[in-house]
Amino acid sequence: MSADIGVTGLAVMGANLARNLARNGYTVSLHNRSVERTDALLEAHGSEGEFVRTESLVQLVESLERPRRVLIMVKAGAPVDAVIDDLLPLLDEGDIVIDAGNSFFEETRRREERLREKGLHFVGVGVSGGEEGALNGPSIMPGGSEESYRTLGPMLEKIAADYHGEPCCTWVGTDGAGHYVKMVHNGIEYADMQVIGEAHDLMRSLAGLEPAAQGEVFREWNTTDLASYLIEITAEVLEHEDERTGRPLVDVIVDSAGQKGTGRWTAISALEVGSPVTAIAESVFARSISSQRELRAETNRVFSDGVDSTAADEEFGPEFVEDVRKALYASKLVAYAQGMDMLVAAGEEFGWDLDLKEIASLWRAGCIIRADLLDTIMKAFDGESSRLPKNLLLAEEFTEALNECLPAWRRVVAAAAEHGVPAPVFSSSLAYYDSLRRDRLPAALTQGLRDYFGAHTYQRTDVEGTFHTLWSGDRGEVEA
Ligand code: 6PG
Repeated sequence: MSADIGVTGLAVMGANLARNLARNGYTVSLHNRSVERTDALLEAHGSEGEFVRTESLVQLVESLERPRRVLIMVKAGAPVDAVIDDLLPLLDEGDIVIDAGNSFFEETRRREERLREKGLHFVGVGVSGGEEGALNGPSIMPGGSEESYRTLGPMLEKIAADYHGEPCCTWVGTDGAGHYVKMVHNGIEYADMQVIGEAHDLMRSLAGLEPAAQGEVFREWNTTDLASYLIEITAEVLEHEDERTGRPLVDVIVDSAGQKGTGRWTAISALEVGSPVTAIAESVFARSISSQRELRAETNRVFSDGVDSTAADEEFGPEFVEDVRKALYASKLVAYAQGMDMLVAAGEEFGWDLDLKEIASLWRAGCIIRADLLDTIMKAFDGESSRLPKNLLLAEEFTEALNECLPAWRRVVAAAAEHGVPAPVFSSSLAYYDSLRRDRLPAALTQGLRDYFGAHTYQRTDVEGTFHTLWSGDRGEVEA
């Protein structure tokens, strides 16, 4: 029997994608470096659909119908290249190699070019939704050639998450575009989790709300315009009691956040394409600070904790909690606005015609940042490109909400600063918003200083041209 698709790399994500494909009626050829894993998968789930067991990449490739489709699900980086090196001599023109891992988009671009020169398609696919999503329907963000999507697309759409009858999968753009969009998704995911963490810290440290009580607050927030998967699972994590100690689990987890790299890549790429994703970058830095445990302990010894834990008083009652909700919403909106902005900048840089409405639609189900907000974001980016808002914050769907949140947002940031609770994304998002709306920025002085020490020149508000002041001479102005 010839298989519709082959999957190599059967750790949990690969295994779950293979099962998802089989459950949807595709015959799936299975391969793993150690055959024990293949056998374990077949033993546990072999009855879920049609699988073909193979013991080598040669067998895997031989088992596939043409054009062959081979999905690689191995650790990002060198292992992907190693599998490609092994596959290349076995494949024929027109075959499709799919990388569904969290690969860095530049590597995907390089691999795509390499395979294209050999007449093969290389499709970097962003997949979000964790293990559960991979099995039951992830959000899928495929890049690669549009031609490859004609044969691959229907399969991916069938296994993708379903949002009211629409698959959360569509071709987003050539070469590394799929992995880029997934990377930005993860950047937003970082910011989304960080603002949730800041809300949690503020409510704990200032309003004295214990985790279980906060669980209820988040549950309630999940019925508002904040409704999203991350808010929903925050309630569950906060309410969870540790089996060993009977304390809230969140209190016994070490407060040092890990990171596999996608958030960092987002920040680096944003710097390279010149897009100010302050909320995302601050979230990455917040994780870095959290992991500097020795330095934190030392600083805590020298200065002590800046927060007076007995601060909870009537100043921080239910109204403060509602303020925090609004600050969270506004900051979250900034994170999405920045993520979307950087997609536009990257599209120009890498030649992708990214459709922000379609991208928002992909994130409505299956992925980690799925949120009701995305429906509204889609509306904001609906229509002729010349009429779309320059930034999500300017979309009429959000201007009123932002105006309504603003006083609360300012109060929360002020309270955090006054009482020593770090709220880097709440505050940097507010600064981003204030910077964008400001009539004049102190960048004029920066330009003056640059001109002073480095003759870097400046432009004037009143006359066209480029100018330099002779700072070490008579201080007259010359046209540069
Ligand atoms: C997803 C997740 C997934 C994973 C990331 C996050 O969309 O399913 O984003 O890709 O959880 O690897 O990793 P870190 O938080 O470890 O960077």
